[in-house]
Amino acid sequence: PLIDPVLVVVAYLLGSLSGSLLLGRLQGVDIRTLGSGNAGGTNALRTRGWRFALGTVLVDVGKGVLAVWLARRFGSGVAWLPYAAAAAAVLGHVWPLFHGFRGGKGAATLVGALLLLWPLALAVVIGTWLVVLVATGYVGLATVIAAASLVPTALFAEAGPERWSFALAMAAFILFTHRDNLRRLLAGTENRFERVRLFAR
Ligand code: G3P
Repeated sequence: PLIDPVLVVVAYLLGSLSGSLLLGRLQGVDIRTLGSGNAGGTNALRTRGWRFALGTVLVDVGKGVLAVWLARRFGSGVAWLPYAAAAAAVLGHVWPLFHGFRGGKGAATLVGALLLLWPLALAVVIGTWLVVLVATGYVGLATVIAAASLVPTALFAEAGPERWSFALAMAAFILFTHRDNLRRLLAGTENRFERVRLFAR
């Protein structure tokens, strides 16, 4: 039915509404010119403070939830549709129509989508993210490893084809969007949040 592709396009458009770039427009700043240059919650916290970061994360997580909810509520009911809508929202966040196709890295939007799509995988993702973050202080590294945890979760949960495809695609895509973070890590120039590190010397 025609409604399914329409819902995927709607999900992409929702994803294109970037929390940090919309809040930035209200305040006359473009976060892409500050800090790491990324249009996401981490860089919002780094450069604009916790209120701006909270607003950013609420919008970016919220649109992931909404994209999946709409696909489930109004779609034809085929199993792959909510996963396609989730992926489209993440792609919209990274390549947003409304912001010159230069958006963020997709992590918060993926979290929002997983909340409805696959809560068990979200719990593993959040747990992994927290452990790596407090151990290393590197948000980008924590995000890459947390997204990669989708793959072992698919294995142990004996996921069906939709979840397997989604897990592999998102683990690879988050790795791709964080390629500059990994380059900076190897070069020793990645920004570190010292205050979150539990085991810092
Ligand atoms: O998802 C974004 C986060 O993992 C890294 O953000 O600003 O350190 O590149 P940033």
